[in-house]
Amino acid sequence: MAAGKGRLKQGSAGFTHKVRGYPLQLAVRLVAMSVISISAKSLPLTKADALVIGLARQPDGALVLETGTSELAEARLLETLEDLGATGRTDEVIKIPGTSTRILVVTGLGKFQAKHNYDHETLRRASGAAARELAGVKRAVFSLPSAKIEQLAAVAEGALLGAYAFNTFRKTTAKEHKKPLAEIVLFSEIAGTTIARTAIKRAEILAEAVHLVRDLVNTPPSHLTPASFCAQIKPLATSAGLKVTILDEVALRKGGYGGIVGVGQGSINPPRLLHLSYSPARPKARYAYVGKGITFDSGGLALKPALGMEAMKSDMSGAAAVMAAAIVIAKLKLPIALDVWAPLAENMISDTAQRPSDILTTYGGRTVEVINPDAEGRLVLADALVRAQEFAAKAGGLDGLVDVATLTGHQGLALGARVSAAMGNDDAFRSTVVATGLIAGEDFWPMPLPADLRPSLDSPVADIANMGERFGGMLVAGLFLKEFVSDDLPWVHLDIASPAFNEGKPFGYTPVGGTGVAVRTLVTLAEAACGR
Ligand code: BES
Ligand code: MN
Ligand code: ZN
Repeated sequence: MAAGKGRLKQGSAGFTHKVRGYPLQLAVRLVAMSVISISAKSLPLTKADALVIGLARQPDGALVLETGTSELAEARLLETLEDLGATGRTDEVIKIPGTSTRILVVTGLGKFQAKHNYDHETLRRASGAAARELAGVKRAVFSLPSAKIEQLAAVAEGALLGAYAFNTFRKTTAKEHKKPLAEIVLFSEIAGTTIARTAIKRAEILAEAVHLVRDLVNTPPSHLTPASFCAQIKPLATSAGLKVTILDEVALRKGGYGGIVGVGQGSINPPRLLHLSYSPARPKARYAYVGKGITFDSGGLALKPALGMEAMKSDMSGAAAVMAAAIVIAKLKLPIALDVWAPLAENMISDTAQRPSDILTTYGGRTVEVINPDAEGRLVLADALVRAQEFAAKAGGLDGLVDVATLTGHQGLALGARVSAAMGNDDAFRSTVVATGLIAGEDFWPMPLPADLRPSLDSPVADIANMGERFGGMLVAGLFLKEFVSDDLPWVHLDIASPAFNEGKPFGYTPVGGTGVAVRTLVTLAEAACGR
């Protein structure tokens, strides 16, 4: 990736670990991102630059250029765009040779808005789509509507999020793949202000965290195990000022973490419980985030069909999201106390794997009959949810608990690949999380936890079964988790199964593969809790 001056860079050849005696190179780059800066309108463009401007469409079909603060030298630009069949719709990016710059990149803003009144997500996506199309380019100037601080922040976030590639595992074909856009310059009327500088800094920290999640999700289970996940997070968390605690398989067995141990027992790569703790002075609130960390979900003895099983490398997306969010929150020094927990295991098939009908004892003592070893996420989460509440009790309890998980295929069936589900035991908190997602540019939709589905989880032999009624499977999973959360603690469960991993085409600032969904919502939620 682009080498930014003085920017964090750690080569992928950094360290190795051994699996079954074979040294494996850890693949995740702790990445050098694109460099970003802001500038006032007076700055002259150089011939080497690419210039990004917007194109919108009026109801009568007329096209409107949105050039931000730039004055363009191009004559007849609109006619040219019309001749090329431009429509201005979102995700349309047109590149043409420029006069004052080398190339002109025209990115769709959709419906025309008077007074440059484009909403932040439209700008984020337009900026991101342009950045994606600029792979291989050294420097691009983004001159999009960004007179308002939310707009400038959105353009910055979009550009940084769009400038992403995962080429760690390309060796002989590496040269055929372009590097992401190296340098981003934003033109804005408010370039000189402190709020603008703060917003750019935040966008950088946020995007770096989203890139980290994408890298972890894209890294296959041959190179990402529960132990190596911890090894990747630990130095990053420590340098951000977080306290890191890792329970290994021995400690988990001793400690009574039957859910994590049960799910992990079929794999040669033993499970972990990773915990990051952030405790600033005089916190305004205390939250805990818990993320599902299945480094690969084969389904265990309820083996998944081969078709599509490769996508199950993304089953640790929740864990990666909560870890990355904690790193951002610490870097931003938000006055909120936060503990994040990732139960990590590999759900494999072997003679030591758990069998349907096995009974395990989760942390805290509740027994679960494992009807379906493929409903493993709820088993590891049960342990972590109980532990998260117990841990916080010593500090006076939590103001909110959020879990993030690629929990059910039903999420995708219900809401598709771009909208995640939000469930919980407190309608107000759930609404807050959904509204926060909207601000952050991530779509969540509220889903119920209908009481009538709960008896389907009753077990004839244990306290509860890990599978119930098939219809409404996403809600049944949520109801299972609800059993492990105190009724009077506001709790939200986010099912990100499909949105975590883009199996389709890239769009806006979202690449193929790991998306990094939920990071921005979790960070924005923490900011809201401290009144920012
Ligand atoms: N990791 C899967 C859910 C999933 C499916 C995530 C598709 C991303 C894309 C989860 O562990 C699982 O297998 N869930 C089962 C639960 C069922 C057995 C009750 C499912 O949804 O089929
Ligand atoms: Mn599963
Ligand atoms: Zn799973």
